[in-house]
Amino acid sequence: MSAPDPVTVMKQQVGKAAADRVKSGAIVGLGTGSTTAYAIQYIGERLASGDLEDIKGIPTSFQATVLAKQYGIPLTTLDEIDRMDVAIDGADEVDPNKQMIKGGGAAHTREKIVDSLAEEFIVVVDGSKLVKKLGTTFLLPVEVIPMAMTPVMRAIEALGGQPTLRMGVKKAGPVVTDEGNLVIDVKFDAGIDDPASLEPKLNNIPGVLENGLFVNVADTVLIGEIVDGEPSVREM
Ligand code: 5RP
Repeated sequence: MSAPDPVTVMKQQVGKAAADRVKSGAIVGLGTGSTTAYAIQYIGERLASGDLEDIKGIPTSFQATVLAKQYGIPLTTLDEIDRMDVAIDGADEVDPNKQMIKGGGAAHTREKIVDSLAEEFIVVVDGSKLVKKLGTTFLLPVEVIPMAMTPVMRAIEALGGQPTLRMGVKKAGPVVTDEGNLVIDVKFDAGIDDPASLEPKLNNIPGVLENGLFVNVADTVLIGEIVDGEPSVREM
């Protein structure tokens, strides 16, 4: 069997580092994506070994629900809790101020709800996700109610964005979110100058449910890197 590629190793290491920070008795927001999947796996392994006890997870997506069940993490809902201790989630871009773009997995609406509620939101990324300015390597996802797709696209153009409907892979037609909506990916030619002002402007367009700008939500950013040929994790 061939050794995993460096990006996979970085994702595994950073996922494990975040899982190691979870304490017994915690209510844990479980993010979405390939990096968080390793955190969910390691939380499950700590539970199975007895190193961790009495955890409850709040999943941010269908994917996170399936993984949590696979790794034996008991689940709960926002209706049943009055606090969330920690959330672990990935990101598509992180700038030097810990502002982020999320939504590469079309789960940013539930992710923003859960991640914002956590006492500590731990972001897990590999070094390729770090950018000087948001919107320069990744398009900004906007979740939209299907009947509003066309007017929302026009309104996004009026804000200076170039919208594209996200299409499915191995599925004819558009990506449909866990909430039954569509995702419009938006390109800003010069990147996003002011994420804090763009976030509410997009959300104020009638028909927009949520966009992927996460402003002042992240507390801790863990970065997986390969240094001198060895995987390592540092905190931003
Ligand atoms: C899903 C997300 C993911 O957290 C983000 O896309 C990062 O995913 P990955 O760890 O697979 O790169 O926002 O909506």
